[in-house]
Order: sequence, then structure tokens, then C-alpha cells
Amino acid sequence: MADGEIRKGLAGVVVDTTAISKVNPETNSLLYRGYPVQQLAERCSFEQVAWLLWHGELPAPEELAAFEARERAGRALDPRVRAVVDAAGRTAHPMDVVRTAVSLLSALDADAHDSSPAAELAKAERLLAAIPAVVAYDQRRRRDLEPVEPRDDLDWSRNFLWMTFGEEPTATAADVFRISMVLYAEHSFNASTFTARVVTSTLSDLGSAVVAAIGALKGPLHGGANEAVMIAFDEIGDPGKAEAWLDDALAAKRKIMGFGHRVYKHGDSRVPTMEAAMRRLVQEHGADALVELYDRLAAAMDVAKGIKPNLDYPSGPAYRLLGFDTEQFTPLFVAARVVGWTAHVMEQRAANALIRPLSAYVGPEEREVPVGG
Ligand code: CMC
Repeated sequence: MADGEIRKGLAGVVVDTTAISKVNPETNSLLYRGYPVQQLAERCSFEQVAWLLWHGELPAPEELAAFEARERAGRALDPRVRAVVDAAGRTAHPMDVVRTAVSLLSALDADAHDSSPAAELAKAERLLAAIPAVVAYDQRRRRDLEPVEPRDDLDWSRNFLWMTFGEEPTATAADVFRISMVLYAEHSFNASTFTARVVTSTLSDLGSAVVAAIGALKGPLHGGANEAVMIAFDEIGDPGKAEAWLDDALAAKRKIMGFGHRVYKHGDSRVPTMEAAMRRLVQEHGADALVELYDRLAAAMDVAKGIKPNLDYPSGPAYRLLGFDTEQFTPLFVAARVVGWTAHVMEQRAANALIRPLSAYVGPEEREVPVGG
């Protein structure tokens, strides 16, 4: 790259090394600490994957048991956080609610400004345990439902669904949700993770980095796309209208949410796993119209633009079938990606350099302020 060359959006720019995950668009693969994400989604609990991303290795049985015990002990919603969620009312977007709740959780954490590796890890574990309670509570209050207390006999994914819906998920629902969380947990230097690293690079605290990352994730070009996919599905309504809707949307130069990717140009490595999981839910629910729309829109997009779906395309319908409101989809992404963000905070902290790029000035040349203003 030539000195002074500008790459808009940092496209194609390698900004640092990472040992956390490897995206290879050529082979369409994604590795977490060397393990294919598809195998992790098939064989591991979300807790095992979180441990792997933070520590670099899968946990030994006794490490996992101790971690699970800590996570289960941290699931209850802090009443002060509950009050803040209530104060947000119902007009606030759930992403604003979770961002605000995480900000308070971080401010209240006794280790808030201890950046030792042990304290950073402890804070990351506590956020992992606490965020599902925030999302579940927010979802329930919007439906005029009483909160559901956590259960310590359920794993992280099942308890998340339990606290949201107040009933034990079916085996398929629990499995599909776990798979989505594993697939969402980490994805190298995406916009929100890079945001977390920028904040960390100023020697700011982990909580601030996570709050900033949530803000970056919220946008529809990033995590907000899973919500936007279902908004588009609702707009289309009838599967038979998918092709005409797409023609109109493309003619109006609209971006089709859930399609395209900055890194993958021939399809997102995570889609086949998530799509297979989503189809299992479709079978359980008999949601034929939904999957018909899903298939027709993807086929039409392929013909029209040759652009493939990204992970948000199958996860949107999956979260709808699991029973979440559309606006809660991106907070689910937060609950999973907090693992990746905090792993990157720790990695950035361990070999820090202030992230401070340059810009090429294109404004007016130097000029004089007129006398008298
Ligand atoms: N719909 C319509 N056209 C598209 C789309 C799309 N979803 N994605 C790319 N294109 C077109 C774009 O219009 C452009 O065409 P042209 O060269 O004629 O102007 C060309 O493809 C290149 O697109 P780009 O936006 O310059 O490429 P990028 O690498 O900056 O975009 C992206 C990546 C994800 C921002 C983009 O594909 C997009 O906006 N997708 C929709 C939002 C979305 O689904 N985001 C989720 C991303 S992956 C998971 C996650 O982070 O949550």
C-alpha cells in the first residue's frame, strides 16, 4: 500500500495481528483459535466456546465446571439495572436499552478500572452472565410479562430462553439458539470489534470498550442487519412478491439487508450452518411461507446481483421462530459477541499501541478571519 494512499472504510487494510480468529474468504473458512467454527457449533456449548476465545484453548472439565458455576451465580438481574431498563420506557430501542444497561453494569463493577488480566477476564465473565438477564427482562416487560428468575440447572443458552419465555425450550430451539450464539461470538476485526480495540488503545476501561462496540454493532450495515432482514420480510409479506419487491428495492438503490459482506465475496462461511439450523426450526413450526420467502429472495438476489446472504439472513428468521420480537434480535448478537469483544480488549491491552490514523485534509487552504468576525 503506497504511503498516503487512502482506503475508504479501511477496506483491505491489515491493521494488526490477532490470535483469536482467522477469516479466510478464499477457503470460506472461519477458525476460532484454530478450530473450525462449524465444528465448534456442532460439538461445544456456548460456555466452552467463550472459554476458548478468552483463553486460547478449550477448557479442561474442572475449568469448565468452575467457570459454569461462576456464570450461573451471576445471572440475576441487578435491581439497579432493572430500574434503568424501566426508566428507558418502551419507545427506546432495545439496543439503546442494552447499551445503557451494560454501561451501568460496568460502572457498578468493583473491578471497573482494574485492567489486570485477571480483572479483565472476571469482568468479561460477569457481562456474559448478566446480559441475557437484561435482554430477557426487556423483552418480557414490553409484553407486559413478569420477569422470570434464572435457573442454575440450565446451561447459558437454555437459561437465556427460559428467562425470556418462562418455559423450557424444546431440544431443537435450544440447539438452534446455541448454534447462533457460537456463530455470532467472534469475527476478527469487524467494525464493532475494531471499535472496542480503538477504545482500549487509549487505555480506557473494558466497560467503555464494550459500550462503544454495542453502538457500532447497532447499525444496519453491521449487527442491525438481522433485525432489518425481518423488517424487509414483513414488508414483502407474501413469498410470491419477493422478486417484484427486490426489483423495486434495487431500482431504488436500496441495500438489501442480510446480503453481502466486506470480507466474504462468495458467501459467508457461517451461513450454511445457521441456515441448516433455521430449517430445523421451520420444520418444527411448519413455517413454510417464511422459508419460501427466504429461499425466493436469496435466489432472486443471486440472479440480480450475484450477492450471497450473510449470517444475519438466516439468523433473523430463526430468532422470529424462536419467539423474539424483531427489535430484540441485535441485542442477542450483543449477548454472544461480548465474548469476542472482550477477548480483543484483552489482546489489545497485552500489546497496546494507541490507534490513531492520519487523514488527508481536503478543506479550504489557510485563510484569514475577516477583521470584525
Ligand atoms: N444490497 C444491494 N447491493 C449491495 C449489497 C446489498 N446488501 N451489498 C453490496 N452491494 C453492492 C453495492 O451496492 C455495491 O455496488 P456498486 O459497486 O454498483 O455500487 C457493491 O455491491 C459493493 O458494495 P459495498 O457496500 O461497497 O461493499 P462493502 O464491502 O462496503 O459492503 C456491506 C459490505 C456488508 C456493508 C454490504 O454488503 C451491505 O450493506 N450489506 C447489507 C447490510 C448487511 O447485511 N450487513 C451485515 C454484514 S455481515 C454480518 C454482521 O456484521 O452483522
